Formats: sequence, C-alpha cells, structure tokens
Amino acid sequence: MNLNSPRGTADVFGRDLEYRNYIIGESRKLFKLFNYEQLITPTFEYSEVFQRSIGQSTDIVQKEMYTFEDKKGRSVTLRPEGTASVVRAVIENKLYAQNLPLKVFYKGSMFRYERPQKGRMREFYQLGVEVLGSDNPLIDAEVIWLANLLFSQLGFKDLNLLINSIGCLDCRLDYMNLFRAAVKPKLKNFCKDCQQRFEKNPLRIFDCKNSQCIEQLENSPKIADNLCSSCQEHLGKVTGYLEQLNINFKLEPTLVRGFDYYTGTIFELTSGQLDSAQNALGGGGRYDNLVGQMGGPNLPAIGFAIGVDRTIILMKQLGIKPVLQKQSPKIYIAAMSDEFSSFVLNLLSCLRNYFTCDTNFNIKNIGKEIKWAQKNDFDFVIIIGEEEFRQNQVTIKDLRKYQQYECSWKDEKEKIIELLRGNK
Ligand code: HAM
Repeated sequence: MNLNSPRGTADVFGRDLEYRNYIIGESRKLFKLFNYEQLITPTFEYSEVFQRSIGQSTDIVQKEMYTFEDKKGRSVTLRPEGTASVVRAVIENKLYAQNLPLKVFYKGSMFRYERPQKGRMREFYQLGVEVLGSDNPLIDAEVIWLANLLFSQLGFKDLNLLINSIGCLDCRLDYMNLFRAAVKPKLKNFCKDCQQRFEKNPLRIFDCKNSQCIEQLENSPKIADNLCSSCQEHLGKVTGYLEQLNINFKLEPTLVRGFDYYTGTIFELTSGQLDSAQNALGGGGRYDNLVGQMGGPNLPAIGFAIGVDRTIILMKQLGIKPVLQKQSPKIYIAAMSDEFSSFVLNLLSCLRNYFTCDTNFNIKNIGKEIKWAQKNDFDFVIIIGEEEFRQNQVTIKDLRKYQQYECSWKDEKEKIIELLRGNK
C-alpha cells in the first residue's frame, strides 16, 4: 500500500504557500492594470482538445499526458497547459462575439508525465494570459511587457528575455524545405530522437540539448533569416515597441517551443541562475491558426504562461522574499483552564469582528503560550486566568512594546479594541 503523494507532486503549505499566494496576488494586480479578466476552465478535458491543438508529434502529446478513460469509456486528459482549454472555452461559449480582442488570465495546476527533477514536476502551477482576436504587433508587445513586468515586480533583475519568430504557415513551409535539404546529408550525425524529429517535426531539433546536435545545427539555415516580408515587418514592430518600453531582450534565432500551435512571435524568460534542470520561468507566443483549427472563427491570438514553482525556487535562491501586506493585528487568547471556555468564546465572537484571533485549545502553560504566540507573529496575548475570569476582566500583553494592561471586559470593550488596534 502506498500512502505517499504521487511522484512529481507536492503538498504546498507554510512558506511555499506564502510565496505562491504572493506571486498570484502580484500577478492579479498587474492583470487588472492591463485589463485582463479571469477565465476558469475545467482541470480535465476530452483528450482531443489537447491532441488537436498541442500537436500529435510533440513530446507532450506523445509521452507526457495523463490520459485515461472515464466510466463511459471516453478519453479524458488532465490539462498539460492552459492555452488549448482557453481556446476550447472561447469557442464553446462564443466569447468571441463581443468587442475583440478578448483578454483573459488563468491560474491553476497543470499535469505532465515528465521525469521529475528540481523545477520539473508532474503537477505544477501556472499563471497565464491569452489574448484572442488581434494580430496587432502592439498586442505582442503588451503580452511580452506584461510577462516581463510580472517578474520585475516580483523583484527579479537579471532575467533573459529571448524572442524569435517562427513565421506564418507560408514562410515556415518554404523554410522547412530549406532546412530539411541542409540537414539531410548530415542526419546520421544527429541523435536518434532528432532523426525522428527530422521526419515529423524538424523545428524541434533546435530544442535538443545534445551537444553534438547543437554543433551540427550551427551553420544550418535559421527561420528568423527566412521570414516572409509581412512576418519580418511584424517582428520589427514588436521589437520596436519593446525598445520604446526600454525592455531588454535578445533576438534568439534558434528559439523554438514545444507546441505545434505557434506561429510568428515566440518568447521565453529564462535565468542563468536557476539552480534546476530547466531554466525557463515562462514562455509564450502567437497561435494565429489555432482557434480556426479547433472549429472556431479565424482569430489571431497570443499568450504566455509562467511556472510558479520554478519562480519560487529562484526567488528563494536569490533571497527575494514576498513583501507582506500590513495585516490587521493578530490576537492570541490564552485561557488557563477549560472552565473559562464560554468567556473565551465571548471574546472571540466580539474581537473577530476586527482582528485575526485565535485561542489555545490545548496547552495551558502561560510561558509556553506566550513563546508560541511570539513565534507565530501574534501582536497581543490576552490572558484569562482565575482572577480575570472572576472579575470579568482581561490582561493584555503587547508583544511588540513589551507592555501589559488590565481592563474590564464588561465596561471597557471600546478601549480594549482601540488598544488592540494600536491606537492607545
Ligand atoms: P510552457 O513553456 O510549456 O508553455 O510552460 C510555461 C512555463 O511553465 C514554463 O516556462 C515553466 O516555467 C513551467 N513548466 C512547464 N513544465 C513544467 C514542469 N513539468 N514542472 C514545473 N514547471 C513547468 C505553455 O504551457 C504555454 N501554454 C504557454 C502559452 C500560453 N503559449 C501561448 N499562450
């Protein structure tokens, strides 16, 4: 019997949860400033949704999907990413029948059956945005700006922003013929995987980490040098806008991404400092044909997703801490006997209207209670002992100022609340 969490998954609590919530909170603020609305899609979809969009020849569809049959024998898949689900939802709910572009954001767990390593999990958390209904290069710049700004807002300084264009279907077809012709004579020098990629999806060869394959590719034609004039112009405008926004980026002609749906602009944010097998913190790009291919109208689109787990790893590594918002004071009620429980309940039901409050359900040693409260960031301890109980009063210990007050609970409630607010 195995009662542990499945390999490649994690329970999230304590500090890590604080980091995750902080990243979600900061991103929500930015999404609002950029006018993106949230969209929540199911965690699983019929398998065709991902097979048709991500592409049959990709690693994700070939090897990494959590696919199973439900009780009626229908094939369903835990979402490996968010874009395909968003596109499905936009088509199904006709969300395109309004002012375009449609700008949405999403967050949640994604699932990929990969070999787990630091920064690579089987269940991981993503935050993403998708914009559907515009091919304006200004939107590409906005989406890249947003991804970049999110990381700088979190406190990152030295991330690499890599940009490339993989062309439209027309220029990519011409390029593919050129690339195949250049690689074919030396195909035997490539690894087995790349030899297969050559047949099914040659661009993926650029993603190979094998040093011999990288070397073989050095003088091969690059897509960025073989774009049609309209793709070139589009990329030129995108990079021009990014320069205007003073965003540092690097044009990376060998950048490719692991999904078949991309066209035109693609980008990735990476860190040389990330102490993990994978260095991409986020990435995205255009997918101008996907909505049409999935049965919707022809809507050009672009988006990105960031990996929250990897972002947390790097934040911790670089000593970047979540900036906690000033919260309302935290009050801990330490009662010295269970007999005072109904007095405690009175206090809780009044004070919880104003403050974060808790009480000691178990330990009854006052020294231990105070130490515990200090360790857990409480601002005040209210002590209820024999004397306090009898007199209907409270002893308040200010843990920040090391001061103590005695007040009547019956007659001085307002004074107590002001005191706990820190106003007295
Ligand atoms: P992706 O590059 O596959 O893109 O994933 C985005 C980010 O999710 C990665 O940069 C990485 O930080 C994180 N990530 C991916 N796989 C794992 C894993 N196994 N463990 C931990 N983190 C991981 C997409 O998912 C596209 N849907 C992005 C997009 C949106 N393109 C257009 N719109």
